[in-house]
Amino acid sequence: MTRRKLVAGNWKMNGSLAQLAELDAIAAAARTNPEVDVAICPPFTLVAPAAARGNLSIGAQDVHPNDKGAHTGDVSAAMLKEAGASLVIVGHSERRTDHAETSALVRAKAEAAIGAGLIAIVCIGETEEERLAGRAVQVVEEQLNGSIPPGATAERLVVAYEPVWAIGTGRTPTVQDVAEIHAAIRAKLRGLLGDAADQVRILYGGSVKASNAAELMAVPDVDGALVGGASLTAADFVPIVVAAAKG
Ligand code: 13P
Repeated sequence: MTRRKLVAGNWKMNGSLAQLAELDAIAAAARTNPEVDVAICPPFTLVAPAAARGNLSIGAQDVHPNDKGAHTGDVSAAMLKEAGASLVIVGHSERRTDHAETSALVRAKAEAAIGAGLIAIVCIGETEEERLAGRAVQVVEEQLNGSIPPGATAERLVVAYEPVWAIGTGRTPTVQDVAEIHAAIRAKLRGLLGDAADQVRILYGGSVKASNAAELMAVPDVDGALVGGASLTAADFVPIVVAAAKG
């Protein structure tokens, strides 16, 4: 079973036109590590100029489920596609929390993205309280139940497991915990998608950096990383791409 690893950077609400210069060194690393897919997801305003550089896959961080209409402040999948995006993150925990996004809404967003020919990176992950209560597997299974579009295929669906307590904290689960939960996610995806689940990439996200990328990328069923803070500069991000190429 060969799944190409994907290392995607989520710039969150960071970046500027000047910072797009980082993309050139990241693209160079992508070219020298062709066994890995590499993408950067900047804020909406930078999607088009980032894509226009023409050297790297570019994604967005959210999408509205509808094609068009009276939805002030929102952006549709067709608009992202036209701006040059090839993927979009949906259901990030920061959106589930800050914008009260439900799994049903996340699924609708993923369906819209897939329908427009984008890859949807569907994020799931438990809070610290849920993990301490021994409910991590149950929580991610419930999120998968609600968020994964039926009939989705690996060509257009990626899952990102991001434990909320590991995001931006410098803390990561043990490799055993990552292995356990990624295996549970794979099993759940098999239940939802059948054989197609074997090709779906499951990324790990949460405080991935150069110093821990190699051990995380070597875990079975870890098919890449979704990287926040360490994706903002090529100096921090490129070593993660290299680790994924080896892992
Ligand atoms: P950090 O890598 O900064 O912990 O963020 C992870 C994340 O939320 C990526 O989507």
